[in-house]
Amino acid sequence: MNMIASSVDDSRSRMAAKLRAELARPGHAVDAYFYRSPLVYETELTELVFRSWIYAGHVSEVANPGDYLTLEIGEDSLIIVRDDDGEIRALMNICRHRGARVCEGASGNRKTFVCPYHGWVYRTDGSLKAAREMHMLEGFDATAHGLRQARVVVYMGLIFINCDTDAQDLLAPLQNLDRQLGAYDLPHAKVAHKQTYRIAANWKLVLENYLECYHCATSHRSYSRMHTLKEADHEVADRAMLERTEVVTGVAGMGARYERTYADAEGFGCCVYTSRYGLYDGFLTGSKDGQPVAPLMGQIQDYDGGVGDFQIGPLTFMLNYPDHCVLYRFIPRDVGSTDMEVVWFVRGDAVEGVDYDREKLTWLWHHTTLEDEYIITRNSHGVNSRFFEPGPYHPVFENELQAFMAWYLATLSKSL
Ligand code: FES
Ligand SMILES: [Fe+2]
Repeated sequence: MNMIASSVDDSRSRMAAKLRAELARPGHAVDAYFYRSPLVYETELTELVFRSWIYAGHVSEVANPGDYLTLEIGEDSLIIVRDDDGEIRALMNICRHRGARVCEGASGNRKTFVCPYHGWVYRTDGSLKAAREMHMLEGFDATAHGLRQARVVVYMGLIFINCDTDAQDLLAPLQNLDRQLGAYDLPHAKVAHKQTYRIAANWKLVLENYLECYHCATSHRSYSRMHTLKEADHEVADRAMLERTEVVTGVAGMGARYERTYADAEGFGCCVYTSRYGLYDGFLTGSKDGQPVAPLMGQIQDYDGGVGDFQIGPLTFMLNYPDHCVLYRFIPRDVGSTDMEVVWFVRGDAVEGVDYDREKLTWLWHHTTLEDEYIITRNSHGVNSRFFEPGPYHPVFENELQAFMAWYLATLSKSL
C-alpha cells in the first residue's frame, strides 16, 4: 500500500474527528483515512473482527481426531482441530511459554502440537501435556498453561469461531436459515475446491465490493448474463421463480427471505441473511454456460432457476445453486491486504472426474473473483490518492453496503 503524507497523524482524537465527520454525512463513501490508518485497523481487529463469528472450515476437513486446519486472521493464527474426544476446538496458535507458533502447516493430522522453540507439548484439546524441565519451577501449574481457546459453533457442517469469550450465541439466530440452507445437506457435503485470493486492498474495500451488485453489469459479464441481481428491480424478474421454487425443489420455505444483519443482528457480529434470486430463462446453475456441473445437492429435486444468497456473521457469505454451493469469507491480513477465501461444495458422494469436473465447477466464481480483484485494487489505488473525495452511495444497489458502513462507524465510535 502507498502511504501518503496524511497517514502520519494517527491519533485517537483524529479518529474521533473523522468519525464525527462521517456520521454527519450519511449516504456517502467514507474518507480514505479509514482505509489506511494503522490505528483504525488495530481498532477494527479488537472491536469488530475478533468479536465476530467467522467461518473457519467444514467438518469434513477435520473429520478425524487430530485433523487440523490453521486460520490466519490479521497477524494472529488459530488451530481448528478435532480433539481426541471428537470435539472441534479453536486453539490460539501461541505457545504459553514465550509465544512461538506451535503449528506451522495449513492442514494435517497431529497427535500433539510440539512447540518448535523449547519443546512444550500440547494435546489436541489444547491442554499442556509436557513442559521440559519445568518441574524445577516451584509451583508450576501445567493445567493453567493450556493453549488459549476461541468459541466454536458448528452449524450444518460449517464451523464458526469467535475470539470473544462473551460473544452472543449464533445458533439461535441461525435457526432462521434451517429450511433454506438445510436443503443443501451441507453436513454431508464435500469441499470440492478452495482457494485463497490475497487482495492488495484494505478488507473493507473487498467486503464492500461483495455487498453491492451495482458493479456487476460493468465488471462481470458472465455473471450478469445469467443472474438477475444486477437489476435494481430484480424482484420483478424473480417473481416466477419464487412462485415455483417450493414445488420444483421440493423444499418447503425455499424462497423465504430473512434478514437481520449488522446493526439489526440479534447479537454483535451475528448477522443472518437469506434470500433467493433468479437466473434468466435457460440457465440452471452458476456455470460458464448455465448448465449443471454436479449432481443435485441434498434434498433438492430439480432446478428452479434460482440461487440462494446467504450471510452468516459479518464476513461470511454463500451462493447456493441447486448443484453446488460457493462460500466467500473475507479476512484482513494487514491494513492493505485481505484474504478472500472461496470454497466450492458439492454433494458428499460426488466423485471428481465422474460426477463433476473441477475446472467447470469453479469457472464462473474463479473468473468473477479475478474480475473483482481487478476492480478492488483499482478502487484501492484511487482511494489512496490524496485527491480522493468520497461520492454518494446508490440508494438501492448500495443499501447493504450502507448498512455495513453504518454499523462499522458506530462500532468504532463506541470504542472511543
Ligand atoms: S516458546 Fe514454546 S516452548 Fe518456549
Ligand atoms: Fe463483484
